[in-house]
Amino acid sequence: MKIVTVIGARPQIIKAAALSRAIREHFAKEVQEVIVHTGQHYDDNMSQVFFDELGIPQPDYNIGVGSGSHGVQTAKMMEGIEEILLKEKPDAVVLYGDTNSTLAGAMAASKANIPVVHIEAGLRSFNKAMPEEINRICCDHCSTLLFSPTATGYRNLINEGITKGIYHCGDVMYDNSKYFANIADKKSHIIDNEGLRGVDYVLCTIHRDNNTDQPKRLNAIFKALLKISESKTVVLPLHPRTSKLLNTNLEKDLYNKITNNSSIKILPPVSFLDMIVLERHAQMIATDSGGVQKEAFFFQKPCLILRSETEWKEIVECGSAVITDADEERIVESFNNFVENPPHNYPEIFGDGNAAVFIIKEMLENL
Ligand code: UD1
Ligand code: UDP
Repeated sequence: MKIVTVIGARPQIIKAAALSRAIREHFAKEVQEVIVHTGQHYDDNMSQVFFDELGIPQPDYNIGVGSGSHGVQTAKMMEGIEEILLKEKPDAVVLYGDTNSTLAGAMAASKANIPVVHIEAGLRSFNKAMPEEINRICCDHCSTLLFSPTATGYRNLINEGITKGIYHCGDVMYDNSKYFANIADKKSHIIDNEGLRGVDYVLCTIHRDNNTDQPKRLNAIFKALLKISESKTVVLPLHPRTSKLLNTNLEKDLYNKITNNSSIKILPPVSFLDMIVLERHAQMIATDSGGVQKEAFFFQKPCLILRSETEWKEIVECGSAVITDADEERIVESFNNFVENPPHNYPEIFGDGNAAVFIIKEMLENL
């Protein structure tokens, strides 16, 4: 079986590590993987670092689209992917998640009549103002095999009339977090390098467009972080989208208080091994990232979700995460509640850490 894997954004590169590893370790004779990088993310610390660190083969192609408006970026990707598919003639195209790279891969493959395999299928926020919601709905509806990490995702597919080729199989990111946790402990020096040993800190990431691009929301989040920093250190590995907008979108006074504050540590994006070490040592995690919400759960850390809804509703239902939106009061109040009453309920929602092997077996049998 020959597959073309399309990746482009940071979380997809990390997710791809699980399947590439499973192919290498268990299916090297049966599966040939061709990796296509759209170039959606291109800074070394948003892309190359993950190939170097996670044992993902270097991409066979890099379309090099770079940043741009949704339409321009997606169109350029489709053009590049189509050309590669016509040349490579794969048995299937494998796509992850819900980015513009996912959408472009789904459109190019389905129009070339090549089966689409969607990993992380069925997730819904039910908020169509999110670009990701449109991307994932479109991708699911042109997929042949749909692998959902959670029971909720699987039910969402059935509710939308997708009943064939669907699986509830666990999360490839759980595979990765389990696999890399010990390796990260040995290889990463971020705790000592950043002076965080023995420090109680809240790890925070922010990159969602409606938080970064709406000054009201960005200011509310940072005002809350400023309050939290009165009692805990806040560690913020910042996505380039956010770093670029901080100066413009934060009130001047707040910007100065945030950037000249020894309790708020703003870092450039960190590698995945550094990130999971930061997550494991944190007291709490505050994030608008889909992936980081789940990793908070994997490592049994309470999580403040800086959004108005989540696709990972199970983690809220079991009490280990709370939706605070970009609401200063709710963020601070939920932070205080978690400090006083840390949650203890972390059931096995995301499978057993072997999702990637399951996915490849099903692909071999059903494509
Ligand atoms: C994208 C995904 C989002 C995902 C996120 C993961 C879409 C619509 N959004 O959002 O779902 O959660 O990736 O991180 O696909 N930039 C750089 N260097 C880079 C990459 C980006 O400086 O290597 C800056 C550019 O100014 C760019 C901005 O970040 O315009 C946004 O990048 P883009 O890929 O368009 O969207 P993300 O916000 O990263
Ligand atoms: N991540 C990372 N370094 C960072 C921030 C995040 O390696 O500085 C990892 C994180 O551990 C998770 C993934 O990136 O596996 C999540 O990606 P992101 O938050 O960019 O996107 P989302 O999951 O929201 O689509």
